Amino acid sequence: MNTAYVNGEYVALDQARVSILDRGFLFADSVYEVVPVYAGRGFGLRAHLERLDRSLAALRIRNPHDIQSWAALLESLIERNGGGDVSVYVQVTRGAAARRDHRLPTDIEPTVVAFCQSRTAPEAAVIEQGIAAITLADTRWRYCSVKSTALLANVMAADEARAAGATEAILVRDGAVMEGTSSNVFAVVEGRLLTPALRETILAGITRAIVLEIAARDGVDHAEVQTLSPDALAAASEIWITSSTREIFAVTQLDGAPVGTGRPGPLWTRMRVALQAMTHD
Ligand code: PDD
Repeated sequence: MNTAYVNGEYVALDQARVSILDRGFLFADSVYEVVPVYAGRGFGLRAHLERLDRSLAALRIRNPHDIQSWAALLESLIERNGGGDVSVYVQVTRGAAARRDHRLPTDIEPTVVAFCQSRTAPEAAVIEQGIAAITLADTRWRYCSVKSTALLANVMAADEARAAGATEAILVRDGAVMEGTSSNVFAVVEGRLLTPALRETILAGITRAIVLEIAARDGVDHAEVQTLSPDALAAASEIWITSSTREIFAVTQLDGAPVGTGRPGPLWTRMRVALQAMTHD
């Protein structure tokens, strides 16, 4: 797992360098993707690359590659790192200008870096018992639908969760549940699977979309709702978080209280099996 990609070259991870004038470093002026890889193959790669393109467009950063050349680049990186079950991190910044200046430069080349990380299967306890989550106020900037690397609020909220003995923080804005610090949120409320409808303060998760696809395919009563209130969340019989690295985790404790029976629920079990059938296909 020690070959990285930096601006057209494959280099040893510990030798990979970008300029201190890079705007990704100075201003978090950059976007990223995390693509799960199963048996050497990127899962949902096209959807991730399309979202990368949308994130770049939102920040008016030129996309340095088309989908085919992105796919070739990342497939080569995966191969050079031995394939297997990993995740690929890819980041595109606006690039490095000659000086630090808030104004957007027009004449610089985007910086592209990518590397692989191990993606270990969740511990048995996480599957059997689920995880704890806390709710927190969402202090992030508005444009969370852009997968930017401006993640300080997410990182600090994740640390608050850790300090409270929880695995994830679920963020609440204007009286409505948005998402986790690095995951989307689902809840089973009165027998119906609900997830917050997409808006600019929520990332359009690839795993979220797949879970909704499975729900539609398998006739699970479900809806994307404008307002999933913290009270509805607290009363849910099941809560899940989804992401490319964690797939689907059952939240069995919320703010210190059991969710439903306090054990992963039957719909979660069904959804996890369906999702794994797809990722292992
Ligand atoms: N995060 N919401 C946020 C804020 C996220 O950071 C993520 C993923 C998701 C889930 O999206 P997807 O299903 O496409 O992974 C939702 C990645 C894994 C990360 O930052 O590491």
